[in-house]
Amino acid sequence: MTRETWATRLGFILAAVGSAVGLGNIWRFPWQTAENGGSAFLVVYLGIVLLVGVPGLLGEFVIGRRAKKSPVGALRDLSGSKAWGVVGAFSVVTGISLLSFYSVVGGWIIRYLLESGAAVVGGSPAYFTNPGQYFGGVSAGVDAALYHLLFLGLTALIVFAGVRKGIELGTKIMMPAVLVLLAGLAAWAATQPNAAAGYAFFLRFDPSVITENFFAILGPAAGQALFTLSLGAGTMITYSSYLDEDRSLPFDGSAIAVLNTSVGVITGLVVFPLLFSQGVNPTETGTGPGALFVGLAGAFSQLPAGTLIATAFFAVVTLAALSSSISMLEIPVAFLVDEYGVSRKRAVTGMTALVAVTGTVCAFNPSIFGFVAGPLVNVLLTAGLAAFLLFVGWVMGREALEEFAAGAGEFSKSLGTPWLFAVGVVLPLFLVFTLLTHFGVDTTIGFWPTVGVAVVASAAAFLGLRQPNSVV
Ligand code: PFF
Repeated sequence: MTRETWATRLGFILAAVGSAVGLGNIWRFPWQTAENGGSAFLVVYLGIVLLVGVPGLLGEFVIGRRAKKSPVGALRDLSGSKAWGVVGAFSVVTGISLLSFYSVVGGWIIRYLLESGAAVVGGSPAYFTNPGQYFGGVSAGVDAALYHLLFLGLTALIVFAGVRKGIELGTKIMMPAVLVLLAGLAAWAATQPNAAAGYAFFLRFDPSVITENFFAILGPAAGQALFTLSLGAGTMITYSSYLDEDRSLPFDGSAIAVLNTSVGVITGLVVFPLLFSQGVNPTETGTGPGALFVGLAGAFSQLPAGTLIATAFFAVVTLAALSSSISMLEIPVAFLVDEYGVSRKRAVTGMTALVAVTGTVCAFNPSIFGFVAGPLVNVLLTAGLAAFLLFVGWVMGREALEEFAAGAGEFSKSLGTPWLFAVGVVLPLFLVFTLLTHFGVDTTIGFWPTVGVAVVASAAAFLGLRQPNSVV
C-alpha cells in the first residue's frame, strides 16, 4: 500500500498551522500571560518562539520529510539503531497523554458552544446567571466525561477519513473560518468601553518586570512556546512525513510560526479588552484553567448581543481545538499504520478506544487532569524536543543540512549552518535548562554559566565541524 501524502503544499501548511493553533493560543496563552505578568511574559515568549520555536520546528520537519515515517520508524531508520526507535516511541505516549486532557477541555468548550448556540434562538445561556457555578458543573464528573467523548469522537471522525480527505480537507475549512471569526471579534472588541485598559495590560511593555522576574517567566514561557507550536510531540515529524515534494522548509516553518503567533496575539486582543471592559481584571480574579471561562462568561453576559458573540467565540475555539486534536491522534495512528501495517480505520478505532478510557480518568479526577495537562506534558514536550534536536545535530548532521536546503532559496540555504549549530548544541542546552525548572530546581544561579557553556560549546562545535571532511 502506498503511503499517504498531502495533496497540496498549502494543505500541509494549513494542517500544521491547524495543529499549532488551538487551545494553547486561546485558552492557555491568555491564562499564562495573566499569571506571569502580562506584557513581560509576552516579550519573553515571543523571543523563545523566534529563537527556539522556529529552528525547532525545522528540526522536526527535516526528520519527517527525510524519513517519510512516523517518529518511531524515522529515528530508527535514519540512525540504523533500535535504541533511537525507542526514543521515538515516547512520541506515542506524548500523543496519547496530550489527547487525554485536551479532549476533556475540548468537551467543556463544546458544551459552552451548544449552550450559547441554543440560546441564540431564544433565552440566555445558563452560564450567564452564575458563571462560576456553571463552569464547576461543566468541568466535573459524568458531564465532563460525556462531552469529552463527544469531542474525541469528532476528532476520530476526521482522522478516520485520512490525510487528504480528513486532516487536509478539515483544516482547509477550519483554519480560514478561525481567522475570519477571530479578526471580526477583535475588531468588535476594540469598540468596547475601556478596551484600552485591556490593551495596556497585554501590550504595554515594562522592562523592569522582565528584569525582576526573568527566571520565573522563563520556564512557563518556554513551555507555552513549545506547546503552542506543537513541538516535541512528534506531530510535526508525522505531518512532514507526508510531504512528497522538496519545497522550502525554512519558508514553510516561518509561515507556520508567524500565523500561529498572530492568532495568539489576536486572541489576546479579543480577550483582554473584553475582560477589562466589564471590569474583570485577570490578575485579580485569580488565574487557573477555569478563570478564562468564568471571566469571559461574565463579560459576555453583560454585553449587548452577548449570546451571539459568545457563540462566535466558542465556535472559534471548537474549530481551533479540533484542528489540533487531530494532529495528536495522528501520532499514534501513523505509528500503528507504519510499523504494523494496520489499516488507518482500525488504528483510529483502537487508539480512540484507549483515549476514551484515559480521557475519562482525567475528566473524573482533577488532580490527574492537572498533572497530565501541566507537569507531564511540559516534561514530555521539552525532553522530546531536546531528543529530536540532538538527533538532527549529531546523528543526521550533513543529511539534515541537505534536507534543510532542499527546495529552499539562496538566503535560506545560507542559514543552514548556523541553524545546525543551534539545534545541535544551543537549543538542547536551553531545553535541558528549562526541564530543570519544570522539576522545581532553582536555576537562578546556573543560568548564566549555562549560557556561557552553550556559547563556548557552540564555538567549539563550529570550529570542529568546519574541519575538512566535516559534516558542514
Ligand atoms: N499546539 C496546540 C495548541 O496550541 O493548542 C497543542 C498541541 C498540539 C501540542 C499537538 C502538541 C501537539 F503535538
